[in-house]
Amino acid sequence: MEKEIKDIEGLFFEEIKDVKNLRELEEIKIKYLGKKGKIQFLLSHLKKCKKEEKPLFGKLVNDLKEEISEQIKKVFSFIHDIEEKSKLEREEIDINLPGRLKNIGNLHPVTKMMDRMIDVLVGMGFSIQKGPDLESDYYNFEALNFESDHPARDMQDTFYITEDLLLRTHTSNVQVRVMEKFSPPIRVIASGRCFRNENVSSRSHVFFHQVEGFYIDKDVSFSSLFSTMDEFWDKVFNYKIKTRYRPSYFPFVEPGMEGDIECIICKGKGCKICKNSGWLEIFGAGMIHPNVLKYGNIDPEKYNGYAFGLGIERLAMLYYGIEDIRIFTENDFRFLNQI
Ligand code: DAH
Repeated sequence: MEKEIKDIEGLFFEEIKDVKNLRELEEIKIKYLGKKGKIQFLLSHLKKCKKEEKPLFGKLVNDLKEEISEQIKKVFSFIHDIEEKSKLEREEIDINLPGRLKNIGNLHPVTKMMDRMIDVLVGMGFSIQKGPDLESDYYNFEALNFESDHPARDMQDTFYITEDLLLRTHTSNVQVRVMEKFSPPIRVIASGRCFRNENVSSRSHVFFHQVEGFYIDKDVSFSSLFSTMDEFWDKVFNYKIKTRYRPSYFPFVEPGMEGDIECIICKGKGCKICKNSGWLEIFGAGMIHPNVLKYGNIDPEKYNGYAFGLGIERLAMLYYGIEDIRIFTENDFRFLNQI
């Protein structure tokens, strides 16, 4: 038995000398330490030994087992280090090469302008409501005092989906929806996409964004509309900005007005953008028509209110110096990255 142990030890050291890689090492490990390996063979022979020999031979076999395991571990880490090193050498990483820049993206200029307006209005006490892009004729027109044969419907060329369903032409569609849900005082804004069946050109598009705001309470004064608008524009542009109002017609307000702000490019002096007038026409406003309040189940004898609405693209164009509205929807990174 002692001789067998010595022989196996000699053989092991003979073999491990020539190991060239981890695969060969694994084979040796199995050959000596595996379930059917040489150590196991020696252990099974122990049973045949004489009783008094067993402790000695048992110890010898265990010592050999430990020695072999130790040796295999050492050779493993040695070969492993060499393999890793040569792998790294083969990879040839050029650490001088600049990394690839990740494009983290940006908010769209229209979104930025819209967020800015919403922030200001929320700061002034308005809360945000939403209305659907796909709207019924009722909320987009009828409940806003456009009767079915009302000529003012022609002011807004409409994409009809069915006879009664359309793509909303303005964010004013939110007005009666909100009136139905809440009772005064109501101080709400709504923003989002609008659609009109118009010829696409550098100044107009079939698809654009608006922000709508309205306030309904007891004794809302006409002058509070002006002061709210003035404060709003000052805060959007961060300086005292002049406004002016011209009478205009929208079926859902009476009186109705169009509002201008002093040209933000030339500060009222007159330039190409404002066509030398010093003014930019950018919003509609007025006192909510009693009929609209009635449609919203609000008693016009008790309550009144004002409303205003404005397009975002026009302002974003002025603010960022963009000359063609179509570029907003072309997803051209060369343009978007500039803003
Ligand atoms: N909805 C109108 C449009 O798209 C804009 C507007 C005008 C909104 C007057 C209003 C308003 O709330 O009072 O042309």
